[in-house]
Amino acid sequence: MLVLAHVSDIHIDGSERNTSRAARALTYARSLRPDAIVLTGDLADHGTTEEYETVRELIAGDDVPLVLCPGNHDARGDLRKVLLEQDGDHPVNQALNLDHATIALCDSSIPGRPEGALDDDTLAWLDSVLAATPGVPAFVGMHHPPVALGIPYVDGIRLGRPEGLAEVLGRHPHAIAVLAGHAHTAAATTFAGLPLLVAPGVVSTALLPSETSAHPPVDRDLPPAIALHVLDDGRVTTHFRPVP
Ligand SMILES: [Fe+2]
Repeated sequence: MLVLAHVSDIHIDGSERNTSRAARALTYARSLRPDAIVLTGDLADHGTTEEYETVRELIAGDDVPLVLCPGNHDARGDLRKVLLEQDGDHPVNQALNLDHATIALCDSSIPGRPEGALDDDTLAWLDSVLAATPGVPAFVGMHHPPVALGIPYVDGIRLGRPEGLAEVLGRHPHAIAVLAGHAHTAAATTFAGLPLLVAPGVVSTALLPSETSAHPPVDRDLPPAIALHVLDDGRVTTHFRPVP
């Protein structure tokens, strides 16, 4: 059995509130001794060097393997420099090869834009990662969900041109689930015949139209939460947990 702790949208912005919620979520995730921690973007709120330095402190010294991708609030260059000690503004695509699973996180951010897309280079990268690990169950993740989730506020800024992703996934039957963040809501749906598992937002929770008349439809009082993806016998089961 393999367990992934999926943490998303910590939005580090210099405030004590967001830093402490992120610290609680990551400490809880680590305490469960998962096989890996997956961070699906919006690590920083404004994409500044200082914010990434805080993120670096929050994820430092962790002996649990960790893999991350940017979100629309992130800045590739600063994220890459501070967290990965690399230069460049090209997409931050990262794969983590575990003994019994592959995690491929794609950069769906478009610099300066809230909506998402996977560019041709990123799709080619994903195709090559999946082609290199035939028969090993693969989780494919990105920040932006590729389908609408019933929350117009986030549905309008979801992943554009999802057919490119569907095409790559269709070529690799060992891709078993798609992971996303961005929507700040614990949600499960389907995409391209696979489970699409959306992590709750650590910083806040987005609500359905029937749940609120607030604009934006966001609850900042609900506790931070994470998703736990359990892979057993080739099948994924997801548990969503508020952080104690
Ligand atoms: Fe976010």
